[in-house]
Amino acid sequence: MKILITAGPTREAIDPVRFLTNRSSGKMGYAIADAAVHAGHQVLLVSGPTSLDVPAGVDFIPVESAAEMYEVVARYLPKMSAAFFTAAVADFTPAGFSSQKIKKSGEKMILELIKTRDILGSARQMMGFGGFLVGFAAETENLEANARMKLEAKGCDLIVANDVSRSDIGFDSEENEAFLVFKDRTELFKKAPKHDLAMHLVSMLGE
Ligand code: CTP
Repeated sequence: MKILITAGPTREAIDPVRFLTNRSSGKMGYAIADAAVHAGHQVLLVSGPTSLDVPAGVDFIPVESAAEMYEVVARYLPKMSAAFFTAAVADFTPAGFSSQKIKKSGEKMILELIKTRDILGSARQMMGFGGFLVGFAAETENLEANARMKLEAKGCDLIVANDVSRSDIGFDSEENEAFLVFKDRTELFKKAPKHDLAMHLVSMLGE
């Protein structure tokens, strides 16, 4: 099966030396890529900057910004049978890029941000994707209810929701505990190494 995975953070440039980003390590997406290749799938990993090694046997396209990730996903997604959107895509990007390094002036600086395009939210309608679609949700409250809203709004088959208010799981940690929110049910995947969750998710795909 052909599988696309987005992973890592994005970097939204402000000027030649500065950018906005987040604490995503990319570990969950890379673990899924590794598990999928071992299960015999053909994997394309589209990733923002991380310090991780690309798993052997995985096709890899590095990207920086949310806009770049959108373009790469739009190009390759129609050829895929399943997709896992683990990337922590920036929701906002600077309204303008300054080609010169911004000098400090005054005591206050206001940075104007505009919304990025929702890549996962564009998969069904804009990109015409008909395969198995998995989104990830980072929540601090009402985990299951918020995840179910995302499942419906973005046309996913599954949302993997984790509680980012806990420091022992999720962002930048080795382990994850997650609610697996399907259209007809919810399962709790108890705290375990990210690789175990990755293998569990890949095992749902079949051949
Ligand atoms: N996502 C994406 N493109 C974006 C934003 C998010 O593909 N521009 C994907 C992420 O990869 C993830 C899911 O959408 O699979 C997260 O959805 P989102 O609505 O952004 O949820 P949160 O990040 O949890 O943020 P919020 O609750 O603030 O909406």
